[in-house]
Order: sequence, then C-alpha cells, then structure tokens
Amino acid sequence: MPRISESTVREVNERMDALAIVGDYVRLENRGGRFWGLCPFHHEKTASFTVDPDKKFYHCFGCGEGGGIVNFVMNIDKLSYPEAIELIARKSGVEIIYDTMDGESIAEERKHGDALKDLYERVAKSYHYILTEKPLGEAARAYLAGRGMSGAMIKRFNLGYAPPDRRWLFDFLTHKGYSENFLAESGLFGKKYTSLSFFSGRLMFPIHNREGKTVAFGGRLLAGEGPKYVNSSESAIFKKRDNLFALDFALPEIRRTKEVFLVEGYMDVIAMHEAGITNTVAPLGTAFTEDQAKLLRRYADRALLFFDTDDAGQKAIEKGIMTCTGAGLDCRVVMAGGLNAGTDEKQKDPAEILQKKGAEYLKKIIRCGILPLHFLIVRSRTLYDISDPGGKQKAIVSLFPYIKIIESELARSDALLAAADAFLCDSMALSRDYRAWLSGAPAAFSPKGKNVTPVRLTEELFLLMTVVANRESHPEFLAKLRGALSIEEINDVNAKELYIAIEEWLRGGEAEGIAGIFSYIRLEPLRSFAMQKCGGEEFAFDAERLFTESLHNLRKERLEARRKQIVQKLRLLGNNAVKETEELLEDKMYIDRELQRELGVKK
Ligand code: CTP
Ligand code: MN
Repeated sequence: MPRISESTVREVNERMDALAIVGDYVRLENRGGRFWGLCPFHHEKTASFTVDPDKKFYHCFGCGEGGGIVNFVMNIDKLSYPEAIELIARKSGVEIIYDTMDGESIAEERKHGDALKDLYERVAKSYHYILTEKPLGEAARAYLAGRGMSGAMIKRFNLGYAPPDRRWLFDFLTHKGYSENFLAESGLFGKKYTSLSFFSGRLMFPIHNREGKTVAFGGRLLAGEGPKYVNSSESAIFKKRDNLFALDFALPEIRRTKEVFLVEGYMDVIAMHEAGITNTVAPLGTAFTEDQAKLLRRYADRALLFFDTDDAGQKAIEKGIMTCTGAGLDCRVVMAGGLNAGTDEKQKDPAEILQKKGAEYLKKIIRCGILPLHFLIVRSRTLYDISDPGGKQKAIVSLFPYIKIIESELARSDALLAAADAFLCDSMALSRDYRAWLSGAPAAFSPKGKNVTPVRLTEELFLLMTVVANRESHPEFLAKLRGALSIEEINDVNAKELYIAIEEWLRGGEAEGIAGIFSYIRLEPLRSFAMQKCGGEEFAFDAERLFTESLHNLRKERLEARRKQIVQKLRLLGNNAVKETEELLEDKMYIDRELQRELGVKK
C-alpha cells in the first residue's frame, strides 16, 4: 500500500468540517455552543455524545468513547487509518498525494476512476430518463407497474431502461465528447465490437458503491431470449467483494439495528425498502461470498436470510448460514409460510409477498426468525430418510459442519443436545460421533443423499450431459438450453439436479471451471456419473448434432404433450364456453406454430 503523504494528512485535518463529517452518521444539535447527539457507539435515549467543531474532537459522556474525527470515522466505519483519511479527504475536497515513487500513477488511476464514476452516473441518469419519460420506456414502465413497483422506488433506486438499439449509447456518449478509447475501457461496451452496448433492451439496476456512486449495472431481461440478468464485470471502480446491492441505502438502518436482511434478488431488495425494511441488501448477481459476510460483520451483529423458498433458495440458505456463521455473524432464517411450509407455498420471495399480501404482512413475517440449527434439522429430514437408521445417521452428520463452526463452546454443546433431541437419540453417543467425525475418522460418515436411484440416461439427462461435457468448446449450448427449456419443464430427477447445479455454479461465478459444477451436484450416483462421463467421448463426439437433435426431440415432446392436453380440454368444453375455447384455440395455434418451427429446425 502506498503511503499517504504527511502534507495530505495535515491538509485533511485542517480542511475537514468536523460537524459535517460526524453529521453524516449522527444527528447533531447545537446547545450552548456545543453539539450534541445520540451516541452511535452505545445505546442511549438522551444525548450524551458531543462534538467540538473547533478542536475537532468527539466525546461521549455515556460510554467514554472519544478522540479525533479520523478516529471517529475509523471506529464507526471500521476503516483502517489510510482508508479513513481517504474518505475524509474525498468529503473535504482534498486531493490525496501519495509518498511512493509512483505516486503520480496512483493519482492518475484515481482520476481515471473518478471519470469512470462520472460516466456511470451520467449513463444511469440517461437510462432513468428513458424509463420514466420516453415512449421507448413504455413497455418497461408497464412491466414495473405490473409488478407493483412504485414511482418512489423507481426514483430512489434510479432504475432505468437500456434501449434495444445497441449503438444508441455509443452515439449518445461520443456526441457528449467522450473519447472512443475511454469508452472502450469503460465496461459498458462489448470487448470486440466496442461501439455496441453491453446492455440492451433491459431493465437497468444501477449498483452503487458504499458512498452512493454508481459503479456498475445489473440488467434484467424483459422480453425475448437470453440470460435473465447480465451484470457488469469487475472493474477499477467495481469489486463485488466490497459491495452489496443497496448497501449505501441500507447502512444507516443496519447501524441502528445491528441487523441486516439478506435477500436474493434486486427486486426483493426494492420490495423490502418499499415496505420500510431498509436494512436490506442482496449479493451482486453471484452467490453471497465470505468477503461480503465479513463486510457486513463490520456493521451488523446478525444477518437474517430471507431467500426464495424453492430448492435453489434452500441450498442458498444452507450456504448462507455457513458463510455468515463463519464470519462471526449470528444468523436467522426468515421463511414465508414458516419452516414447514409445503411446496405449494413456494416461490414466495419478498417481492411477491409485498405485491400479493402487502407491507404489513411482510413486516410480520420478518419478525419470525428461525434458528439456523432448527432450519438445518428440518431440511436434513427432507433430504434423508430418517426412518432408516443409516439415513438418520447421515441426517445427523450433515449438521456437524455447522456445529463445528459455532464460535462458543457452550453454544456448540447446546447444538449437539438439540440435535440429539430432534432425532430422539442418546446425546452422549451423538457427542462421541461428533468427535469421531471431527478427527476425520471413517469415510462412512460422508453425508450422501437419500436418493440412490441408479442413474438412468433419459433424453433429458442426455441433453444436460451434452451441455456440461462440451461447456468449454460449446459455451453457446447453455444459452440455447436456457432459452428453450426451463427447469420446471424437466421431469427426470437427475437431469433436474444437474440443471440446478449448472445454474448454481453460474451464480457462484463459474468457480473452479467446469469441475466446479460437480461440487454442486448433491445426488451421489449422479455426481460420480457426471464426473466419469464428462471426460469421455460419449457426449462430446459430434457434439453439435447431439445437442441440436436432443434439444429438438425434447422440445417436440413437450409441445406435443401440451397440444394433446389442449385438444382434450377443448373436447370437454361445452358450447357456451366461448371465451375459454377461444383462448385454448389461441394456445393451440401458438403451439402448432412452434412445432412447425421445430420441424423446420430439424431439416
Ligand atoms: N441472477 C443473475 N443471473 C441470472 C439469474 C439471477 O445474476 N441469470 C442474480 C440477480 O442478481 C438476481 C438474483 O440472482 O437479482 C436473484 O435471481 P432471481 O430470483 O431469478 O431474480 P429477481 O431479481 O428476484 O427477479 P424476479 O423477481 O423478477 O424474478
Ligand atoms: Mn426472485
């Protein structure tokens, strides 16, 4: 790390406005020449925290905290000394000079970063204008209205719409005087065709850094084919590990409550903020990482995981529990419909709950946090058949990794007792098993799924295997698959599991390359099967043809099945069900057209 020069530190100390800096965190009131507020370092109802703007000191008569303003910023934002100086310098308009040989190049980099941030601000503003004011934004406006998004939230989150015309942004910005070179490096354009915008025809979610500056975008597909979201990649001004969606808006309430809600999607964050639960953030297009948990730990004592209730969401909760606990965050699981909600309650994410049941209901739900161990126990019962002694053993062992990372010894032994209780077994025996597991004893302890159906190569699994086995040489297979067939449309358990594993791997940032996919597969026979077969020729030889034919067969099958259903329904309808008949006929026409297209593809 380059050192900040003495002269800069001096200038920062001279130029900063102590009241303005502290005022960003504490509401201060002038009483008899001294400034008073509620102490941010301890809980209190009457103000005993004071700031002396001339001496640039703060002191709390309640808890005894006190010191210089740099100290204050270090304490409250959990920053290092140089980080605090940098922050105050920025707020006070002091240019930072570094002591190293290449101080100049660092200054250059800063300047470049600032220019980039200005560019992103401008682009966000333009997207927002198009969304809110232009005829071009009409469809996106209608979409948001349909999801119950208020104008206030569209404004607060500065949502936008990127025009479908991929050249628009380039023309617009070069007109404003931006150089082509600068734009090419900005991350807003294609790598190869640098005048074509990376985002097009998408609903735009600006991603802010902690200071509220736009540093990246997430773009949601509104119609047509393609990935549901695309996100800016990392850049000089955007590091995913240092950021979470809406962290800037959430910080004041996180600081106040020491609690943070973690949800899965951008839409969910906005719904929570709309309902007034403003201490809510989400990861940025990838899985929630260890670094992000550590970042939250600086401000919060507890994380509340409020994820989708589908299977992917459940897995994400499991992982989130481990990540949070590992970072020293206490955690709770929030679930719509409670822990034992059946699958009919599924897909209830915060956005949907707000829209269907309203803010009061949403606020009620979040008050019922489930203890992580409790969640894991209930989940293990769904994963393993505990009426079978072997299954029960595996269910219990599946809890051990969590118990292991619980920080306090007392809490650990409580957890072991609770586990024994939950599975009606002897607590001493369970503790012995736990210790044996800790010392890494027998391999029989490795938890495996209850599903031991041998892997049968169905058409569906064949297709998924072709996608995985050729991931490196044919990355386009995956995009095509996602466009043509959704997870819900797949019947075979193994194919479904593989599909989910791929999606999770993608969300996790495609960690460890293709091999990473295997670690997301939870059904044991399938995992070995996939690992074994992916290296061979079976799915790789003449890959293009294998993939196209297989996808075609499946699409055809699906369409034909749906057609058959419709024809049956039509037969059962009476003569006066005009409207329904019309609708069904329309569906049928659509399907016939799609079938026609599939047949065309085949030729
Ligand atoms: N995500 C992504 N790429 C995808 C799917 C999801 O980056 N192909 C990330 C996005 O950050 C998204 C989050 O995962 O916000 C949750 O995904 P999802 O629940 O599918 O999207 P939502 O934002 O909740 O949108 P919606 O409510 O419209 O489904
Ligand atoms: Mn969602």
